[in-house]
Amino acid sequence: MTSARILGTGSFLPERVVSNAELALTVDTSDEWIVSRTGIRERRIVAAGETTCDLAERAARQALDAAGCLASDIDLVIVATTTPDRVFPGTACLLQERLGIHGPAAFDVQAVCTGFVYALGIAEKFIRTGSARRALVVGAETMSRIVDWKDRSTCVLFGDGAGAVVVGMSDEAGILSSHLHADGAYKELLTATGGVSSRGTGLHGGEGLITMRGNEVFRMAVTTLDALVGETLAANDLKQSDIRWLVPHQANIRIIAATAKRLGMAMDQVIVTVDRHGNTSAASIPLAFDAGVRDGRIQRGDVVLMEAFGGGFTWGSVLLRY
Ligand code: COA
Repeated sequence: MTSARILGTGSFLPERVVSNAELALTVDTSDEWIVSRTGIRERRIVAAGETTCDLAERAARQALDAAGCLASDIDLVIVATTTPDRVFPGTACLLQERLGIHGPAAFDVQAVCTGFVYALGIAEKFIRTGSARRALVVGAETMSRIVDWKDRSTCVLFGDGAGAVVVGMSDEAGILSSHLHADGAYKELLTATGGVSSRGTGLHGGEGLITMRGNEVFRMAVTTLDALVGETLAANDLKQSDIRWLVPHQANIRIIAATAKRLGMAMDQVIVTVDRHGNTSAASIPLAFDAGVRDGRIQRGDVVLMEAFGGGFTWGSVLLRY
């Protein structure tokens, strides 16, 4: 049976590193507080004028190289982002134009931190049903543009970056299952208001920036991810020990550790980038996955679990054989 397999990965981070100590110069916080509550030590922030599509393009080109394919081989482009360059056209269309791809479907997915998992789940269905042969799936964000830099409870958490994968038709096992969920009843717990329809334009002095009830989000994330892991294992008739690598959304090391514990995994089976990247929303999983592939930890044939939780709430997982 045809399956959708990851053929290559790529990622890109903006040049500027912002340490916890640098943030402590502008808001009332400390390296000790941020590290102990979140595991974050630094994050990357885009330069003036640098956009989500700029990051996406760099990650996408690297993924195409790694997959050994040309842009002209791609017949589906999906970009998961909450921070698009324009209201429209979608960032996927802007990216497609930069890569010189003309004609195939290109669209954005907005599921905040779960965006990449949603996008990969969608791409897998296109490929498995024969609607596409090779998909470029990107998670790219400039969260720094919607962070309230005066709010210490959120500004220390986020960062910018992009990750990408090329997914292709294969006779070998690839993506084994995806599990996508959402419940909009929780919309107020983690949100950025000020959308174009409610306000008439984009950002409006303070409105449009991220607000979060961190403690409630934290508790929901841990219990929801616990159930999601159970659902994913049961759907594949697998045991915890069958999973070689956990590639979680990188929001908080304590949430990641709770999921690893649920899986009976040691932390050296978890790809962790939150210390260096912070929470890059839809970019965090493909960034972490690419890191694990490039440094040789994730090997062909390994069973990998990706999972995410974010604004919406949205949550989801992808189980795959790399
Ligand atoms: N530096 C210093 N103190 C801070 C701070 C900061 N950057 N941010 C908040 N505080 C203070 C609070 O004001 C509060 O002080 P008070 O007790 O005097 O009122 C205290 O620290 C505890 O705040 P609280 O929000 O209860 O801390 P917490 O242990 O829940 O940690 C988060 C806060 C944000 C790290 C944590 O809730 C979290 O990670 N939540 C989930 C985030 C997440 O995953 N979001 C994205 C999902 S994709």
